[in-house]
Amino acid sequence: MTEYDIAVIAGDGIGPEVTREALKVLDTAASIFGFKTRRTAYPFGTEHWLKTQEIFPESAFSEIRGKQAIYLGAIGDPRAPVGLIEYGVIAKMRFELDLYVNLRPVRCYDDRMSPLKGKGPNEIDMVFVRENTEGAYTGSYGFAHKNLPIEVATQVMVYTRVGTERVIRYAFELARSRNKRKKVTMIDKANALRAQDLWTRTFAEVSKEYPDIETDHAYIDAACMWMIKNPEWFDVAVTSNLFGDIITDLGAMIQGGMGIAASANIHPGKLSLFEPIHGSAPKYANQNKACPVAAILAAGMMCDYLGEKAAGSAIENAVVDLVRSGRIKGVNTGDHPTDQVGDMVVAELKKVLAKV
Ligand code: IPM
Ligand code: MG
Repeated sequence: MTEYDIAVIAGDGIGPEVTREALKVLDTAASIFGFKTRRTAYPFGTEHWLKTQEIFPESAFSEIRGKQAIYLGAIGDPRAPVGLIEYGVIAKMRFELDLYVNLRPVRCYDDRMSPLKGKGPNEIDMVFVRENTEGAYTGSYGFAHKNLPIEVATQVMVYTRVGTERVIRYAFELARSRNKRKKVTMIDKANALRAQDLWTRTFAEVSKEYPDIETDHAYIDAACMWMIKNPEWFDVAVTSNLFGDIITDLGAMIQGGMGIAASANIHPGKLSLFEPIHGSAPKYANQNKACPVAAILAAGMMCDYLGEKAAGSAIENAVVDLVRSGRIKGVNTGDHPTDQVGDMVVAELKKVLAKV
């Protein structure tokens, strides 16, 4: 029986609660579909930093390099300086493991979940491919004349040909394998950020290798508008790191809320990281009222990536059935006790077992 070695970082705030439900679902899927997971829990996050002053020791990092997947709950807490834990844990893994694709599906499972009039599951079904190792996130920033009235702050956006090309190519391959609208929309702001001309040229070149895939383009400001007005125009969208960060929160809202939006940080063929998009929401921690659906779907994406495709789709389908039938009545904080949502998904998965 295949056994997968998985690192688990439950993290801060609601992270541990939603992770517990996701792992419960993962275990059920594993027992139904005949695989095992061996998990190692790592304590990193704000709580651990407050206690030990340790963020992410290299010894643990090199141990994690040997795993097959990383599962992360949520990180961040106002008791730590802004960005310290985010850069020390999430960004560290994205950069040092070269997880250049941040895959963020935006799928509305039921009309009831959609905040957009007349737009539901048929119209809201897209995947964002967010570049995940470059752009505004590389940490190339600085201050001059600090704390003087003439202080200057700069942050450089970095785009490389290699980094741009590989993520654009991934988007085209994805559009082909999804076999839906067969369209890739590139979202940028090349009219103002002239360095993004590199994206314009690279997109044009790569697209020639995919004559079966339609191409489209939108500036980020217009893309925000089209996402609300005509979400059905999007199939696969590829964009740079910062724009991808921002527009996928908007995406989460049109699919039903932060409680349902999952993501995968991928280096194709190598160790990758799976997490819900939402943050740690410290004010809701330990109240058993956070929604674990996004965390559960992230575990489903992890199964899919590991090659356990049947388990991955069974997890997603169980959530879809629960949402469509109204048994999951909402994915906002307080809609259901956290543990009961996990139990519902487990029970739904077991029905699959009855059929296998
Ligand atoms: C995300 C988050 C992170 C990001 C933060 C926590 C650094 O917002 O994964 O979308 O900006 O990438
Ligand atoms: Mg974000």
